Amino acid sequence: MRNIKVGIIGGGGIAGAHAKAYRKLPFVNIIAVADITPGRAEEFAEKYNLKETQAFTDYKELLKISELDAVSICTPNVSHHQISIDALRAGKQVLLEKPMSVTLAEAIDMVNVSKQTGGMLSIGFQPRYDPNMKLLKDIVSSGELGQIYYVETGGGRRRGMPGGTFINKKLAGAGAMADVGCYSLDLVLNTLNHPRPLTVSAFTTNHFGTNKRYHPEADKFEVEDFGVAMIRFENEMVLQFKISWAMHMDTLGPTMFLGTDGGLKVTPQGIGPWSGVWQGKVGSMQLFQDDNMGHLSRDVLLKDDDINLFDEKVRDFAEAVRDGRPAPIPGEEILIQQAIIDGVLRSSQERKEVSIELPHHISLPSKQG
Ligand SMILES: NC(=O)c1ccc[n+]([C@@H]2O[C@H](COP(=O)([O-])OP(=O)(O)OC[C@H]3O[C@@H](n4cnc5c(N)ncnc54)[C@H](O)[C@@H]3O)[C@@H](O)[C@H]2O)c1
Repeated sequence: MRNIKVGIIGGGGIAGAHAKAYRKLPFVNIIAVADITPGRAEEFAEKYNLKETQAFTDYKELLKISELDAVSICTPNVSHHQISIDALRAGKQVLLEKPMSVTLAEAIDMVNVSKQTGGMLSIGFQPRYDPNMKLLKDIVSSGELGQIYYVETGGGRRRGMPGGTFINKKLAGAGAMADVGCYSLDLVLNTLNHPRPLTVSAFTTNHFGTNKRYHPEADKFEVEDFGVAMIRFENEMVLQFKISWAMHMDTLGPTMFLGTDGGLKVTPQGIGPWSGVWQGKVGSMQLFQDDNMGHLSRDVLLKDDDINLFDEKVRDFAEAVRDGRPAPIPGEEILIQQAIIDGVLRSSQERKEVSIELPHHISLPSKQG
């Protein structure tokens, strides 16, 4: 079994989690780190005890290392597109932090380049590795709920608005709908095997972010802090998707799957003002069905989820590189949620339902039914 050589681009907060996870894998060597902030790559190498690691300020120099197999891209959202494309063109396999991109056009471009180069573009959605997310997918895929016709997802924080680049439209693309909504969307789209969306009707606001009483950077707040959308899919199913970074309410409700033979209610783990949205693990799952005695509801026995989801995502990627497997979470799958978020923003701006156009040459994974 061969060893692989990886590089880390971006040496901030989340890059540390990548470094720690790679270091647990005996077949991986981290041979390079790049960070645009002078001195940060060196500090990073020192902090994570990466003795044989070269440090760069320009990631393009890192990409020139011929024996480098793969890179983790851990830079701010606005740079995901260009760095991924450069890495793929340099022949490196890519593990990219979420969200995939700022715009749909960028995401399409990235998938195209990964197809042209034959390189792997895997997006880092660690909740996929929660055994209870797999259990949820198994229940829905088993057909036990019948045909799914309605799904509701999202979540809300009573208060939990970030600042800085997250509220700058040019740098973040979207606000709450993308920042935390991406996890809710991945939860349902992956569970349903990536159905194709057709239209979106959405409404977004930023009453809290633009109010000095609630946000210290109110004068710089350019994105939505609340949004609700009705998304129609090709298989006679609709999704209601709602997200809030701040509100005068405790919850926007659980995630629900309504099927012709059963229903499933799922709540996320976590308590406190920054909880209430999907970011990690399942808190509870309840199944609703009828039998000849009447209506039944029962708690689904959850699996032991005492695992480090982050380590799992990095391990799966590294093993895929080593074994020549396809991307664990391919860009094509995540492109669907980028298309939905793009539709949400257009619909909200135009105040009407809009169509979602997915490129025809993008081959989606299998869909429900
Ligand atoms: N999966 C998760 O749970 C999770 C959690 C947090 C953040 N993220 C994502 O990870 C990414 C990074 O977030 P973070 O919290 O680590 O940010 P951060 O600000 O802590 O770190 C980003 C680093 O990238 C560097 N950088 C910026 N542009 C660069 C470039 N062109 N080349 C090289 N380095 C560059 C910065 O100097 C900084 O050190 C974001 O996309 C974020 O959404 C994911």
